[in-house]
Amino acid sequence: MKKWGTLVIALLMVTSLLAACGQNKNNDGSAQGAGSNAGNSGKKVITLGTSADFAPYEFHIKNDQGQDEIVGFDIEIAKEIAKDLGAELQIKDLQFDSLMNELNSGRIDFAISGLSPTADRQKEVDMSKIYFTATQAVVTRAGEEGSYKTLDTLVGKKIGVQKGSIQEGIARTIEDAKITSLAKTQDIMMQLKTGRIDVAIIEGPVAEAYVSNIDGLTIAEAQPEAEDDGYIVAVKKGNKELLDKVNATLTRLMEDGSIDKFIVEASELAEK
Ligand code: ARG
Repeated sequence: MKKWGTLVIALLMVTSLLAACGQNKNNDGSAQGAGSNAGNSGKKVITLGTSADFAPYEFHIKNDQGQDEIVGFDIEIAKEIAKDLGAELQIKDLQFDSLMNELNSGRIDFAISGLSPTADRQKEVDMSKIYFTATQAVVTRAGEEGSYKTLDTLVGKKIGVQKGSIQEGIARTIEDAKITSLAKTQDIMMQLKTGRIDVAIIEGPVAEAYVSNIDGLTIAEAQPEAEDDGYIVAVKKGNKELLDKVNATLTRLMEDGSIDKFIVEASELAEK
């Protein structure tokens, strides 16, 4: 069932509100460093930064109590990391292109957000091992997919991508592309639906979640390639203690099959 039409419009409004709230929080410096602050439970708090516009990895749902909740594959991983640290997890929904800054200024302890290990990011933050690999996809309006069978067909087209993402880099390699870079992926899908862009480039699983929930969008055959398809967890440069623990949790989750289970569960949740 296509429920996301209205949901996306509602999300557009909520996103701007959340962005405003997020900024306030940052300005008053209320973010907490791991280990140094006690949360409501008296436990130490570890703060995750993510851009929760990226189903099935991180996205908002209304939970059974009717409350807004951030869920997804990456969130399950974050919960496991917090559990292994004996810490309470606090989640901050931020703009994707602000995550590296938020890490380095200490406003978040770690970032999990479908983050690809690019060389630029490698200079700014420290990265965990790769915990997942995704491919790229081209989303367009249903009925127009025949025009985008190869990457060459994107030449000169209006292409929507997320600001600061590797897809922005991919779009820049396409000749004469007219690029629209937006902070939140749902805004890109709205631009596509309303005809302001021709295609969007985004990771395959996220593309699938959007097209199954928004009427009138589909995935084209053209297959962009990225240099860095893997996903990593990012921590502040030099935070070896946390990085070691993150890697230990990832190893555990990969070895005991949890990672595979989380992606299936998150994809099912995203389809609902
Ligand atoms: N994998 C891409 C990148 O690292 C896009 C990630 C976008 N993530 C998100 N939560 N919106 O640049």
